[in-house]
Amino acid sequence: MKIFLDTANLDQIRKAAEYGVVDGITTNPSLIAAEGASNADQIRAICDIIDGDISAEVVATEATDMVREGRELASIHDNVVVKIPLIREGIKAVKQLSSEGIRVNVTLCFSAPQALLAAKAGAYIISPFIGRLDDLASEGMDLIRDIVTIYDTYGYPTQVLAASIRGPLHVRDAALAGAHIATLPAKVFDQMFSHPLTDIGLEKFLADYHKSLQNA
Ligand code: G3P
Repeated sequence: MKIFLDTANLDQIRKAAEYGVVDGITTNPSLIAAEGASNADQIRAICDIIDGDISAEVVATEATDMVREGRELASIHDNVVVKIPLIREGIKAVKQLSSEGIRVNVTLCFSAPQALLAAKAGAYIISPFIGRLDDLASEGMDLIRDIVTIYDTYGYPTQVLAASIRGPLHVRDAALAGAHIATLPAKVFDQMFSHPLTDIGLEKFLADYHKSLQNA
């Protein structure tokens, strides 16, 4: 499973990139706004750090404007994947951009029928938001399972990206459900490394090693 970071913060991206296990980045208008830079400048800077799929979202809501904005975003760098919201006009834009060879991540997906429409329109990635479903007492992970099953059944190449992830258990469950990608806030990426037994175990190994040196 690919691991993406869900952030537009360059410090977080640089720090995480040092481990060599981050495959891509997802952004959205909220994350870009938090950094106080223009969408294009921030996306360009992110592309300079991570060599992988970098999702950049349009803010237009009408199909022809989304297509125009999508083309502009795609021209920033070969690794840019254009993010389009799963609304009626969005599906028209996905069909057009995909037919031009521009890769599209369809975002704000909350149901399997929506995901089926995105795949039929040629989406490269579908992004179901599992945390926001959990917030409404709906089982977000069931949506990942349903979409993976539907895409597998009909052979759609669209990758399933588990978005709106809130903790390491979401990462485990998304992997078990067959998601191709999980996009994580920097905090969740950090939490993936930690287990108290790892720290206790290493402390004991090193203490025993140093003791053995004294006995030698
Ligand atoms: O970037 C899309 C998604 O991952 C946002 O997550 O935490 O705002 O629901 P969240």
